[in-house]
Amino acid sequence: MDRFISIEGCEGVGKSTQVKYLKEYLEATGQQAVFTREPGGTPVAEKIRDIILKEQMSELCEAHLFAAARIEHIKQVILPATSQGKLVVCDRFIDSSLAYQGYARGLGAEKIMEINDFAVKNCMPQCTVFIDMNPLNSWRKQKGKVIDDRMEEESAEFHLAVYEGFKKLVELYPERFICIVPQEDKLLTAESIVEALRTRGIIR
Ligand code: TYD
Repeated sequence: MDRFISIEGCEGVGKSTQVKYLKEYLEATGQQAVFTREPGGTPVAEKIRDIILKEQMSELCEAHLFAAARIEHIKQVILPATSQGKLVVCDRFIDSSLAYQGYARGLGAEKIMEINDFAVKNCMPQCTVFIDMNPLNSWRKQKGKVIDDRMEEESAEFHLAVYEGFKKLVELYPERFICIVPQEDKLLTAESIVEALRTRGIIR
């Protein structure tokens, strides 16, 4: 869908920092954009987020809860903004479900697409920025980071599988994905993201 970008990546690869830099760039250049995140983005979806990240549950229940939160988010936030021509930037979206629940949890891409039928039909991102970094080079290595949710508590193997899942998605959808290998200097990474989005005519 036009004017809708998602940003994806494994835990601890600096995704939030890059979202923040992109926001600053758009503000500084006078480009209006709505920044949001998943799971979350609406009061109901934030409550679902708390349940997902705190409570033990089956893989299938987890996948459905992410999808349920996504439907609320699309209806309440994303579609109202894009229908007014606004640019929407979402920190994580359906590719996280495909990589985490589909690939790492083993439910499979087909099942995730089926559960996320509403998003697939109404709200696929025009473009997805993938911060391409192996989580084993970053994950749990952030100084002083408190591990406080169910996903972060998962094993190194799980996080590696998530990364493999994302890499497969990049291969499967080369037109949609922008793959950015982060550099040590975060500002240079931010510049590469801006440049790639400008080249595609999504931002100025
Ligand atoms: P969050 O604290 O937002 O993580 P991050 O800062 O890394 O984005 O927690 C969201 C967690 O939920 C994160 O581990 C990724 C996971 N997730 C899924 O497993 N499936 C999904 O569909 C989404 C949107 C997130």
